[in-house]
Amino acid sequence: MAKQRTLAILKPDCVRKELIGEVLRQIQEAGFVIKAMKMTRLTKQTAGGFYAVHREKPFFDELTTFMSSGPCVPVVLEKENAIEDFRTLIGATNPANADAGTIRKEFADSMGENIVHGSDSEENGNIEAAYFFAESELVANES
Ligand code: CMP
Repeated sequence: MAKQRTLAILKPDCVRKELIGEVLRQIQEAGFVIKAMKMTRLTKQTAGGFYAVHREKPFFDELTTFMSSGPCVPVVLEKENAIEDFRTLIGATNPANADAGTIRKEFADSMGENIVHGSDSEENGNIEAAYFFAESELVANES
């Protein structure tokens, strides 16, 4: 199977809880290759742009307030079957429904503050990666 990209965001709760290292460790241990990464702080507006698909949802204001509440860490990851495998690694959106051993089950407090984002399709993985990184910033780190 061809390699896919997914865009992960270690969310402000992940940063506040000092879990960046632990979550990245689990991601790398699962075989994902980090192609690009940075720490940034979204504004309510840039968070709204990223989550534009949810603009009409009742939780949109809560989501964009939370995502702009502190620094976050967008990361472009690459792996065969990256989209599905990353969603398996992090678990269900609502941590109450996440499988044991997943990142959200272990660390997330709620549906809104759920530690990490992962793209839901290959197309969105590429679109979301481009929201944070220029193609030239994706490091060619295969040896
Ligand atoms: P994420 O995978 O980043 O994509 C959209 C986010 O919206 C999702 O994770 C949740 O954190 C958030 N979200 C989805 N549904 C709800 C909800 N009902 N209430 C609050 N936040 C939600």
